[in-house]
Amino acid sequence: MRVLFIGDIVGKPGRTMLSERLPLLKMHYAPHYVIVNGENAAHGRGITKKIVEDFLAMGIDVITMGNHTWDNRSIMETIVDEPRLLRPINFPPGTPGSGVATVTSSIDPDLPPLAVVNVMGRSFLPPLDDPFRALDDVVNRLIKEGIRHIWVDVHAEATAEKQAIGWYLDGRASAVVGTHTHVQTADARILPGGMAYLTDVGMTGPMNGILGMEREGVLARFLTQLPSRFEVYEEGPRELSFVVVDLDEKGRATSIERGRIVEDAHAEGWTVNTADTAYHVFTHALTNAPVNASTGGLTVSTDVSTDPSAEDKP
Ligand SMILES: [Fe+2]
Ligand SMILES: [Fe+2]
Repeated sequence: MRVLFIGDIVGKPGRTMLSERLPLLKMHYAPHYVIVNGENAAHGRGITKKIVEDFLAMGIDVITMGNHTWDNRSIMETIVDEPRLLRPINFPPGTPGSGVATVTSSIDPDLPPLAVVNVMGRSFLPPLDDPFRALDDVVNRLIKEGIRHIWVDVHAEATAEKQAIGWYLDGRASAVVGTHTHVQTADARILPGGMAYLTDVGMTGPMNGILGMEREGVLARFLTQLPSRFEVYEEGPRELSFVVVDLDEKGRATSIERGRIVEDAHAEGWTVNTADTAYHVFTHALTNAPVNASTGGLTVSTDVSTDPSAEDKP
């Protein structure tokens, strides 16, 4: 079973990048499940009912959120009506919506179901309920129900908190992949208990803003400490950040591959990944597919980790 997970979709640039590139990713990786983080999809702030509907119509199975979940208040109704839209599970009891969804593959309904859990860290973020106890409750319940394929999106700022949650769930969850920092980390691996781990998958949106937002507003905040409104950076090249994980029938990860599609990067003076020898750049499968002429070339870089001992695990 193969799962494709795409990081924080930022505004219209992120949404258009997703709609243009998802067919190519599906063609190349043939995932059975697709998950996206949508907390910044509506102009950087939350998500709307229309965007939720558009994402589901693209074949996305589950949408996770984060600290921007409630930026559009109308979502409070949508999140009750649409169980495939998640908010972090460790909001206080009584919060609308759910932090977990169990879905069946539309590609192959005979495959085991996939449970997706969304949780938020507490370091440098609002003090929600304890993520560790919340995960204990939901993951142990899922296992008791016979669900073996469990994907966890840890929406958190601190690397240590994400790693701690990763090690805490190794042997119980299938994958722990982080979101929220908008920058992909280079630490994709499979932990000894058979769980895929990546601290942050990175974002999908404009590359030349600051975390996808206009530089002027972010710089003004840093330089003056005065409040300033952040707008999505609408111009220039975009990136799409993703991770692909293969799971065996028992829910253990056998391979994790992180990747980024970066468009027009060299045209704007960017150099991509030249300092990162762990990357190997391949362009064959994705660039042979039709590419929008107006957006020019693509750079696709991925890094694969496999677990050679996976077969021997009990
Ligand atoms: Fe966030
Ligand atoms: Fe985000």
